Amino acid sequence: MWKASIMALIPLFLLLLPSLAFSQDLGVPLSWRDFSNSRLRAERISIAKDAINSILPQLDTSNAQFHGIGYWQAGNVFSAMANFDHLAGTKTYQTQVTNGLKTAFKLYPISISLGTTTMMPCGGQLQLTTVTGRTRTKAYCQWPLQLGNMSRSSGYNVSVHHLSSPIYQSVISTADASSGKQPKKSFAIAKTCDGESMAGGVFWRPVSTDSSINSITTGLYTTLSAFLAETTKDAKYTNAAILSAQWIQKLQINAKGIVLDGVDGSKCTRSPASWLFTYNSGKYIEGLSVLKDVTGDIIWKALMTNITAAAVKSSAWEGSNGIITEGASPKSNNDGVGFKAIFIRGLDEVSARSGDNSALQILIHSYNDVQYNALLQLAANGTSYSSDWKGPPQAFTTWGQLAALDVMVTAINTNSP
Ligand SMILES: *[C@@H]1O[C@H](CO)[C@@H](O)[C@H](O)[C@H]1NC(C)=O
Ligand SMILES: *[C@@H]1O[C@H](CO)[C@@H](O)[C@H](O)[C@H]1NC(C)=O
Ligand SMILES: *[C@@H]1O[C@H](CO)[C@@H](O)[C@H](O)[C@H]1NC(C)=O
Ligand SMILES: *[C@@H]1O[C@H](CO)[C@@H](O)[C@H](O)[C@H]1NC(C)=O
Repeated sequence: MWKASIMALIPLFLLLLPSLAFSQDLGVPLSWRDFSNSRLRAERISIAKDAINSILPQLDTSNAQFHGIGYWQAGNVFSAMANFDHLAGTKTYQTQVTNGLKTAFKLYPISISLGTTTMMPCGGQLQLTTVTGRTRTKAYCQWPLQLGNMSRSSGYNVSVHHLSSPIYQSVISTADASSGKQPKKSFAIAKTCDGESMAGGVFWRPVSTDSSINSITTGLYTTLSAFLAETTKDAKYTNAAILSAQWIQKLQINAKGIVLDGVDGSKCTRSPASWLFTYNSGKYIEGLSVLKDVTGDIIWKALMTNITAAAVKSSAWEGSNGIITEGASPKSNNDGVGFKAIFIRGLDEVSARSGDNSALQILIHSYNDVQYNALLQLAANGTSYSSDWKGPPQAFTTWGQLAALDVMVTAINTNSP
């Protein structure tokens, strides 16, 4: 979790490690509330566009931020806009997204600029110790992956992020894991935790003394590397994606198939087992969906399918009706409020890449429809939505609107006709 970065001192041996035998039931639970919808594509496009247009008045074009939410959250808004254009086949938000990125990257020159849009690096470059700094560093990790495949939207230009970029300096290489030394860290790193190599884990803050590694940063890294592998066909990105995917697979999945939060890269202590957040599983399955296509390796497809099935049914963030309750916060913004949007975006990518598994696609569209119908029927006030998806409706908040966008955009894709 972004804010709660300090690993609780829970020794690893207290944790039941995964057998990876969690079940893969792709059936739609009949207890889910209203899991289908008959709105036609044109209406779904219109609903998504109205939702995006309702947040745009909050955009400050001078700094590419949105009033009421933070920097990394803003990356999620631009991402939803780009995905809208991709899925609707339009260029509606091309100018705003492109200008927003240019502005953000100019103001925060840590970015590496190649082409008309740029993927942000994260970690490894700024020595930031303040809370603001940490938030901003997270943002750098978050932005590129929120943007997804910009080149899929005609007129958008995707740039390439090289292995020499800062995010790639925050990973533990195989050699680092063998030597117990990571070049950007001043302490001895754990070579193994619970008998598994720490190679592939990614530190989430660039401070030389900070030893925290987490699943979201490693999942972002996996996803970024897999997308780059797909785009460039360069094996170094494929290998980077595989190593980090393996790290999560071996160390960060609980017995129910849900991705855990963090591990201390020095002492192997862990985040509490109860720290289960949608976006950790969501970003990982997004990366796995690309990795399975890049490698053709059925292990990644099986793992993606299993985690997806487990995550959409997890009691960690929903009751039997299926409506996600995580991050509901009618009165104030918080880091967790938009995690569920990142989860939904990951599910969308899994669905888009699972044309050979109709049961999985049905499960995903049913799950998104549960959220879609809840937002439209229980949480909507005109075209704005509460961050509490089971309702009640309330006056517009930027964070509530942000959280809803990916559901609206995903519904364009996962439903038919
Ligand atoms: C996925 O789940 C199936 C069914 O429970 C299991 O046989 C398989 O080993 C799992 N695969 C992975 C990679 O988790
Ligand atoms: C995208 O960016 C690259 C790198 O700057 C450039 O060579 C290319 O012409 C751009 N493509 C488009 C369609 O703008
Ligand atoms: C983006 O999509 C295009 C067209 O579908 C594909 O050729 C390209 O490999 C994809 N790139 C990434 C980074 O996903
Ligand atoms: C709906 O939004 C309007 C305008 O923001 C606000 O005045 C009104 O109180 C909201 N309705 C509910 C039920 O919260």
